[in-house]
Amino acid sequence: MTSSLPCTAVILAAGKGTRMCSETPKVLHTVCGKPMLLCALEAADKVADHVVVVLGHKRDEVAAVLPPTALQAVQDPPQGTGDALRVTSNQVPHRGVVLVLPGDAPLIQSSTLLRLKEGHGEALCSVLTAHIPEADAPTSGYGRIVRDAEGNTQAIVEAALASPAQRELTEVNTGIYAFDAKWLYTEVLPQLQPQPPKGEYYLTDAIAIAAKAGRLQAIKHGDLTEVTGVNDLAALSELETEARRRINQAWMDRGVRFLDPSTTYIDLDVSLSADVIIEPGVVLRGDTRIASGVRIGAGTHLTNCTVATNAVIHPYTVAQQAKVGANCSVGPFARLREETLLEDGSKVGNFVETKKTRLGAGAKANHLSYLGDSEVGAEANIGAGTITCNYDGAQKHRTTIGEGAFIGSNTALVAPIEIGEGAVVGAGSTLCNSVPAQALGLARAKESVIEGAGAKIRARNKAAKESKK
Ligand code: UD1
Ligand code: MG
Repeated sequence: MTSSLPCTAVILAAGKGTRMCSETPKVLHTVCGKPMLLCALEAADKVADHVVVVLGHKRDEVAAVLPPTALQAVQDPPQGTGDALRVTSNQVPHRGVVLVLPGDAPLIQSSTLLRLKEGHGEALCSVLTAHIPEADAPTSGYGRIVRDAEGNTQAIVEAALASPAQRELTEVNTGIYAFDAKWLYTEVLPQLQPQPPKGEYYLTDAIAIAAKAGRLQAIKHGDLTEVTGVNDLAALSELETEARRRINQAWMDRGVRFLDPSTTYIDLDVSLSADVIIEPGVVLRGDTRIASGVRIGAGTHLTNCTVATNAVIHPYTVAQQAKVGANCSVGPFARLREETLLEDGSKVGNFVETKKTRLGAGAKANHLSYLGDSEVGAEANIGAGTITCNYDGAQKHRTTIGEGAFIGSNTALVAPIEIGEGAVVGAGSTLCNSVPAQALGLARAKESVIEGAGAKIRARNKAAKESKK
């Protein structure tokens, strides 16, 4: 039984990706927030005992995204997909099954790889094929599956070498295979010959060799999108649109309400819960987690954030690395920056920016404030226009505001500074010194009222205007 023998997956990621016309290596271009290579790697990792990634073009940059568990092989210079397999010879046991997949097919599912592995049986090669639309056939870059009159697969012909008649074939090579490891490494790879036009060694030549031995399987896969290989940016954005649609559909199946799924962008690693409501134009990036009952307002962007149950994120909030507690209210137009922690029931309102700041339970900063490097105690009230002056031009300093403190509007708190529990700061104050618990801190210019002076000023202005006429 093959399943008791070793199964190694090899992911080909050494190519330059010339058709992407980009400095970024092709396999590092992302689909819904994740580099294509990692999408393939995660799927392979669920099925294989080990995964070997073939690196070449900009290999340090590519290696930097890999988890430590991924084995690496180096192909320098890249000389084709057959050559890429050769450089893995020392890392792959020459027994059992080798799954091969390209690093540019990001939507591949582990269930498909599992089926390929389990269906491989005694074959020397099992190749996964798919059908492209007839209209695409003349120009498609996929290798074509050539079958004989009985329907037996004979070979794969690369697009560049295909005759006009072969180009019309709609069954194509997905670049995803299961091989008998011993046969691949000891018989096939050594006999591959360089192919025109670029003198590359094509792994696809293995198919004809397996066919001649009568031990080839071509397994048709019904979902072309899942196995699509990305070779240029147009294909990438088309695939990403479809990936996004699938992500949203999967969340809808689990109870997430989208007011307009077509305008909602959710990364692959985001996690949502039933009864989350998402308004139009929302973007959820990275490792963002949203608990049940949360409403996310239109145009909100959240990156690497967590939002606890029943919080409301009002429209046009932008947040990164923020933790929002249960029943909090944020926005509209709030900006939560890194290390913001809003404890349960706290509120951050419009045009408020926070950074490295904790708002205790029930604390409020409802309007027009900057809270940086701050601790705000539970139930404290931060008046409109309060600014923590955390930066002295050289260093950052902290502001601490005690529980239940009341900071009047338009106050500047020059850090480092501490406002004690239950203290009150008068509106318009600029404070450089701490205020003890329960005290009043006030710093204002003396106020004066001069009876009749307003009327005098108006009369003077009127005369000045008339003299100009
Ligand atoms: C390849 C297949 C084609 C198939 C298509 C499916 C060959 C010769 N052709 O064509 O039949 O229909 O995939 O998407 O195999 N790579 C290396 N080293 C190299 C060259 C490529 O590691 O020397 C890697 C690339 O980084 C990429 C993958 O192999 O991840 C496929 O290479 P690519 O150039 O995209 O091949 P296609 O032209 O798409
Ligand atoms: Mg490709």
